[in-house]
Amino acid sequence: MNAQQTRQTFLDFFEKKSHHIVSSAPMVIKDDPTLMFTNAGMNQFKDIFLGNSPVKFPRIANTQKCLRVSGKHNDLEEVGHDTYHHTMFEMLGNWSFGDYFKKDAINWAWELLTDVYKIDKDRLYVTIFGGDEGDNLQPDMEAHDLWKAHVPENRILRGNKKDNFWEMGDSGPCGPCSEIHVDIRNNQERAEVDGATLVNTGDPKVIEIWNLVFMEFNRLANGSLQPLPAKHVDTGMGFERLCMVLQQKQSNYDTDIFQPIIGKIADISGIRYGAADKTDIAMRVIADHVRAIAFAIADG
Ligand code: SER
Repeated sequence: MNAQQTRQTFLDFFEKKSHHIVSSAPMVIKDDPTLMFTNAGMNQFKDIFLGNSPVKFPRIANTQKCLRVSGKHNDLEEVGHDTYHHTMFEMLGNWSFGDYFKKDAINWAWELLTDVYKIDKDRLYVTIFGGDEGDNLQPDMEAHDLWKAHVPENRILRGNKKDNFWEMGDSGPCGPCSEIHVDIRNNQERAEVDGATLVNTGDPKVIEIWNLVFMEFNRLANGSLQPLPAKHVDTGMGFERLCMVLQQKQSNYDTDIFQPIIGKIADISGIRYGAADKTDIAMRVIADHVRAIAFAIADG
């Protein structure tokens, strides 16, 4: 499945589940003083979560251009040195504004990944929020029990606030989240080391592809949590990572999203991609940045 088909399949899947498809918001934010660039799909829906804007469509799906180069979500230092972080990336998302909650979000994510995209179930791990004393929050056993219908218990891992409580920034809508990770190692590597031990450890072959956020709170400027007027779902799947998995590559840069750009850089520089680590990193950085800059300029 090429990148375009992968994106369309996501949108079609959620359209069939009664989601309204909307366009990506611009990456450069014009009307939120707490944020300079769109860093997540939920930014354009912040006022709906907070109850300040009316809900026009209770279910939405989209693909959002995100830029993570500063502030709370900043991947800049990883870009090019690894094979799966970007400054700009596309986030595939489905949204419920006071409509469905954990059960449908979890069941549909599993259905799409395993029945539609046909990702091997044995290569998937999920995480749930393990609770936090400071915020007086219990472990998310509801998500845990919903995952048990699909995933053996030893693949349902508990994560801390850093990995499993999603916040847009220092303040704003937030809530516990449940991530889906995929193991793209070969069979021998998988037999030697249990993939569960590699989740959220920075291993480039055991990576998060989808984050399901259950928006329940607003983090106030004084650090306290206030319940939102309604409960919402915000999911974000890394499009470039999904393409890597479906195209059976080991690097986002080896997919049809980046190969044409890398090929052009090789033509211009006269350096072959794959010739040496140092030039490979440089070529990945250029490919990533040139794409991000082009979209940032186009978005004003
Ligand atoms: N807001 C969450 C994230 O950015 C899920 O979309 O990961």
